[in-house]
Amino acid sequence: MVIEKICCLGAGYVGGPTCSVIAWKCPDIKVTVCDKSIERINQWNSDKLPIYEPGLDEVVKECRGKNLFFSTDIANSIQEADLIFISVNTPTKTIGNGKGRAADLKYIEGAARMIADLATSNKIVVEKSTVPVKAAEIIMKILRANTKPGVEYQILSNPEFLAEGTAIVDLVESERVLIGGEDTPEGQKAVQALCWVYEHWIPAKNILTTNTWSSELSKLAANAFLAQRISSINSLSAVCEATGADVSEVARAVGRDSRIGPKFLEASIGFGGSCFQKDILNLIYLSECLNLPEVAAYWQQVVSFNDYQKNRFTRKVIESLFNTVSDKKIAILGFSFKKNTGDTRESPAICVSKTLLDEGAKLHIYDPKVETDQIYYELTHPQVTNEPEVVRKNIEIHNSAYSAVTGAHALVLCTEWDEFKELDFKKIYNVMMKPAYIFDGRKILDHEALINIGFHVQTIGKRLSRTGSIRAQGSQTLP
Ligand code: NAD
Ligand code: UDX
Repeated sequence: MVIEKICCLGAGYVGGPTCSVIAWKCPDIKVTVCDKSIERINQWNSDKLPIYEPGLDEVVKECRGKNLFFSTDIANSIQEADLIFISVNTPTKTIGNGKGRAADLKYIEGAARMIADLATSNKIVVEKSTVPVKAAEIIMKILRANTKPGVEYQILSNPEFLAEGTAIVDLVESERVLIGGEDTPEGQKAVQALCWVYEHWIPAKNILTTNTWSSELSKLAANAFLAQRISSINSLSAVCEATGADVSEVARAVGRDSRIGPKFLEASIGFGGSCFQKDILNLIYLSECLNLPEVAAYWQQVVSFNDYQKNRFTRKVIESLFNTVSDKKIAILGFSFKKNTGDTRESPAICVSKTLLDEGAKLHIYDPKVETDQIYYELTHPQVTNEPEVVRKNIEIHNSAYSAVTGAHALVLCTEWDEFKELDFKKIYNVMMKPAYIFDGRKILDHEALINIGFHVQTIGKRLSRTGSIRAQGSQTLP
């Protein structure tokens, strides 16, 4: 089975970069990425792509119009494709059965119905979205119940492991590609066809094949493990702050054990992003449905602890500012959920901002890549406030860190953007209210240097000297 044409349903953070890299690495394959959002497709066809991802612009520029196309003509793209990726969103349900935990599969179902309606020849349908175990069965049921004469389908699971901010490198140098399929001769042929696509650039030893259900569960398991590491190190960050130990030193020592490894042990204000919380909640719901309450409770704690960490950090900010932030100007540096992305989904900065706004603070926010409208959208969302007009009055978005901190009582660093490490903190100290406070939620700044300038500094997982005391003003020689 040779794949000449690929269609991808969903031109989001996964569909866009994944298919751009496939097109780049497989010049013999025509790749069309479709979305039902005309606006999103127009952006993919413009000079300003809808997502910021290092290296993506270059890949798209090289392939767009040659073998990479972004289109709203879903019908034609489905009809001509040999293989269709379903890369639509699978958010947590907000209403009905399983609300707040179960994955909402309405977009998956919608995509499957579109394929069933439009396909006139055999298709390999590949689940790229993250889904609950057995979701492939739903796709299969819809497709096979609506099959036109002479059309056959094979369903594969091929979860995506890219992380935002490093998507292109992750895709180009994948540690592993996972492909699950049915254990039948036709199923295995389809698996081999998808392997052939990836083998254009991924060494065969990095391509793992398995059955469909193991593949689906492996994706949830991988995200659950990663998030669990962050909650584990964050729990120890609280112990460090209470005892005088330093969480970075603990992580360094623990990570030297090759069974544990050094990666993903950065204590922080909590994990964000569209995947971790959603996928663990999905696993929790699955466990409950399978009558495994102890398993559900185990994973629930990873999410609950993350909420605790975000709140713990914000409480520290408020307590340090004499237990009131009412009418105080607070600079928020960084609003995306991690550096090198403009994505704000589940960003810890939202939780921090919400609590400070609820306490009456005036927020001055700067992020190098998040659009102004996106910050307003997140902070005026009904889940965040029922007084959007009040929130609008109390936030101001800045286009530089320096203007955001001018006149601020405190600087709260929420995202680890590299440019924040390069800021001139003497200049910042001069323009801030005194005593001037810095809360480094990402442990990226030089705390000793900041204390020497005159700041009161607090961070995660480390007790800093003179953090609680108010230093005599005017004791510094300012530039
Ligand atoms: P996204 O919201 O950025 O993109 C999804 C796109 O699908 C949207 O543009 C939407 O308009 C489109 N869509 C929905 N139904 C459609 C249909 N029937 N036809 C055409 N387009 C349709 O979502 P995302 O971040 O790209 O995530 C997609 C999936 O991949 C999710 O299941 C997610 O859990 C998973 N995933 C995401 C990441 C990540 O880093 N964002 C990483 C790995 C896996
Ligand atoms: C994650 C998975 O890493 C990826 O494999 C999967 O496909 C999608 O979900 P992503 O959410 O894009 O990727 O970014 P990731 O680098 O995992 O970071 C998630 C959150 O955890 C961020 O808020 C990040 O700041 C935080 N984090 C990460 C920490 O707090 N400490 C760490 O050590 C690592």
